Amino acid sequence: MYQSKISGLGHYVPENVVTNDQLAERIDTNDAWIQERTGIKERRHIVKGDGNSTSVMGVKAAKIAIERAGIEANDIGLIIFATLSPDMYFPGGGVQVQDMLEIDTCPALDVRNQCSGFVYALSTADQFVKTGMYEHVLVIGSEHHSGGLDFTDRGRSVSVIFGDGAGAAIVSRSESDGQGILSTHLHSEGKHKDELALQGPSTRYWVPQILKENPQENIPYFPYMNGQLVFKNAVVRFSEVIKEGLDANGLDVSDIDMLIPHQANLRISQFIQRKFGLRDDQVFNNIQKFGNTTAASIPIALTEAWEAGKIKKGDLVVLAAFGSGFTWGSVIIRW
Ligand SMILES: CC(C)(COP(=O)(O)OP(=O)(O)OC[C@H]1O[C@@H](n2cnc3c(N)ncnc32)[C@H](O)[C@@H]1OP(=O)(O)O)[C@@H](O)C(=O)NCCC(=O)NCCS
Repeated sequence: MYQSKISGLGHYVPENVVTNDQLAERIDTNDAWIQERTGIKERRHIVKGDGNSTSVMGVKAAKIAIERAGIEANDIGLIIFATLSPDMYFPGGGVQVQDMLEIDTCPALDVRNQCSGFVYALSTADQFVKTGMYEHVLVIGSEHHSGGLDFTDRGRSVSVIFGDGAGAAIVSRSESDGQGILSTHLHSEGKHKDELALQGPSTRYWVPQILKENPQENIPYFPYMNGQLVFKNAVVRFSEVIKEGLDANGLDVSDIDMLIPHQANLRISQFIQRKFGLRDDQVFNNIQKFGNTTAASIPIALTEAWEAGKIKKGDLVVLAAFGSGFTWGSVIIRW
């Protein structure tokens, strides 16, 4: 078995900043409510004509990660693309990225695990690198939420939370023993599949069928979220899976140098921080600036934390995610 490590990171967010006050001009909401419940002050939205899309943002993040890893695009053995908001129904974002990066042929795989997508993708990359099958795997999490949210009063409890952006990591074979990805733990519980979901368009809700049935009353084209149930499950599962990862490596909460939780809601991150007794400098949050960017949130946060010098060689870095499915997972890294 080989070791695997993150050898390069990058992120990209659209330039267009949308503040809570700007949202309040469109829907019945206000800055105080959004900040108090979620911690979010602003988020980024793609605007028509700016050239961005889920896969374009993914490519922009990937190019930075590739350069920082000191490799060429054609050194990549596998692309794993995590998103719930692909450019197209099919084919997936992985092959779109492959084309834009001008990689001749390599496998490209899409992961559909929503807010846990990046953790699932990173775990998959880790397995392929550890077995020796690939030397460098490109892992991307990217989301274009703003085009598909319900910006009417009906959708306000969901639409204020989500933002657009992308993050990428190169997972490479590591020479130094004990450095890199120590373990990954993944879970899901399908009985909650409908509690945070976007049902159509899909084979269950084909567009022609919906139009024929005149579904003005109940259009499933916007995400539905049972916010309180999500919150309650999130705080439990985040704690469990972080502990599971630490235990598997004989580590303790006090060993954590940096916890990067999926940026679901600042209140969830703060709950975990309090529960584990972590200091402010041991937990990284940037949801205030970007909202919840689902599969992109961890790689964006990881990149920002690394760029700011908050992650140093030898640090114990813990990534943890929870989201739709429900799905959740953790990654323990010795940097
Ligand atoms: C979504 C969430 C912020 C909502 O907070 P909440 O306290 O559960 O709020 P509720 O949905 O019970 O609504 C409370 C009130 O605020 C109102 N409200 C909802 N959205 C609002 C908004 N954007 N602006 C103003 N008021 C809003 C509701 O209509 C309700 O009003 P009422 O009391 O008059 O009926 C919260 O449940 C949450 O953070 N859940 C977890 C979500 C999450 O992390 N998702 C990502 C998972 S990966």
